[in-house]
Amino acid sequence: MDKLKQNIAEAISSASAEIWGEALRIPADNIPDALEYPPDTAMGDLAFPCFKLSRTLRMAPPKIAASLHAKLSETLPTGISEVRIAGGYLNFVIADSYLSDKTREIAEKGRDFGAHDFGKGKTVVLDYSSPNVAKPFHIGHLGTTVIGHSLKMLHKYAGYDCIGINHLGDWGTQFGKLIVAYHKWGSKEAIEQNGVDELVSLYVRINNEIKAEEEAGIKTLADESRAEFTKLEQGDEENLALWKWFKDISLAEYEKTYKQLGITFDSYNGEAFYTDKMPEQVQILKDKNLMKIDAGASIVDLEAYNMPPCLILKSDGSTLYPTRDIAAAVYRKRNYDFDKCIYVTSAGQSLHFAQWFKVVDLMGYDWADKLYHVPYGTVSIGGEKLATRTGNVILLRDLFATAIDKCRAIIEEKNPNIENKEETAEAVGVGAVIFYYLYGNRMRDINFIMNDALDFNGNTGPYAQYTYARTNSILEKAGTIGEMPDVSDMTATERELVKTLSLFPNKTESAIAEMEPSIITRYAIDICNAFNRFYQECPIMTCEDEGRRAFRLTLTKGVRDILGRALELVCIKHPDKI
Ligand code: ARG
Repeated sequence: MDKLKQNIAEAISSASAEIWGEALRIPADNIPDALEYPPDTAMGDLAFPCFKLSRTLRMAPPKIAASLHAKLSETLPTGISEVRIAGGYLNFVIADSYLSDKTREIAEKGRDFGAHDFGKGKTVVLDYSSPNVAKPFHIGHLGTTVIGHSLKMLHKYAGYDCIGINHLGDWGTQFGKLIVAYHKWGSKEAIEQNGVDELVSLYVRINNEIKAEEEAGIKTLADESRAEFTKLEQGDEENLALWKWFKDISLAEYEKTYKQLGITFDSYNGEAFYTDKMPEQVQILKDKNLMKIDAGASIVDLEAYNMPPCLILKSDGSTLYPTRDIAAAVYRKRNYDFDKCIYVTSAGQSLHFAQWFKVVDLMGYDWADKLYHVPYGTVSIGGEKLATRTGNVILLRDLFATAIDKCRAIIEEKNPNIENKEETAEAVGVGAVIFYYLYGNRMRDINFIMNDALDFNGNTGPYAQYTYARTNSILEKAGTIGEMPDVSDMTATERELVKTLSLFPNKTESAIAEMEPSIITRYAIDICNAFNRFYQECPIMTCEDEGRRAFRLTLTKGVRDILGRALELVCIKHPDKI
């Protein structure tokens, strides 16, 4: 579409100079973004609104449109078959020959049609998922995990080198608590058997007991926990071994979920990794006089930037979450020399990121503006907010399991003889959850309704996967596709499908610019709708005209390739058959 818009822009620009003189030329650069898509394609495929020009040209918009129309009709812009006037708009009809060429180009480039090279030679670091060890991996982590991974896939598709980092929450006072709880109530066998669930219940139990003690004015457990964490920080071997074990047990569990999602990370360097990298940064903060002592703690005052202070060291000298993030950012810059470093977390952490980004800036690091926080809204199920600390949470693995069970039942009923039944049920169940989640703008709060997510007739993952499988089976039956001719009498439905497919590069570009995977999920639905209309109205295999059949099959291949790629870009698998 971009090339076409450029052609139109140049034609309008030179026509304007010819009509009204060089001084009143409409600059070609401003035109492509001003072009609109008419609400009804019967009016045309692209529209140029003349309203804004009426002041400079001192002329009513319909008159401007009429003058341009007369001039442009003499020599049509390349790729345009007709120019029409509609009130103050100048409407352009795209030529069938252009759409035929486009169809060939799409089929030729296939899965790479929406790719870019603006990321070549640049590196993006993406920090996402990052659950806290020994805490449940719950539905609140769905956002960071799938938005983060989609952004990684999208950046890769634009040529960037991508480093996906799971910044595990593997350090902090919770380990002191866990060690105390383990000694008091835990057993090696139970943990080996029940994995992270056992850790979570130990953690929940000690939190409850600490709370009960607090209410009774006692703090034995809290003190013991702090002491165990201090021992851990000082390198006590026994505690270190326990810490590592807790971490391994948790990771093994998370990896099951990552496998279902098809996600791998390039690094699992969590918070603990930065322990020895913080002193250097703390020293810089001191040397630059950026820190001050406030009630014993060391902080960076951010009042001038309308933010509460950023906490660097507690009064006992121990480090905090922002301290580790600062050290991690410096490490990543040195190690990966990133062009962007992206952090995906819930919007609840927006202030945290704004604060330490500012601190990095004040420290004089000139790459502070390459740090991006990508926030997202909350998830609830059936209107209920999800608790985090009490253990009363919906685990991601349970959510997926429910979706997979339901899909298995649907497949059992509709297509019991399918091969790879289990694999298909998993791809569709997990895909349904992800698609539903990524369908709305990321900042919107989501109320998760399982039956809506699984509705094969809604704007859902199963609908998109089903459409993909349909294109696949058509192409399988068709075998080799012959060379398609130029089609000179495309139907409105065929035109619509070609135009929809041709938008793929624009969609991937804006999804990256806005860091918004929903641009891709919505686009996938546009493709499905356009394809299914085409499928109903235009016979493919039974089409008698050989050239037309080749054209329709070429289009079908374009749908399969682009839809398949689009789904992959948002972490969704697409079985060949459903
Ligand atoms: N572990 C944190 C949490 O679960 C998220 C970490 C995000 N990344 C970061 N570099 N702070 O809330």
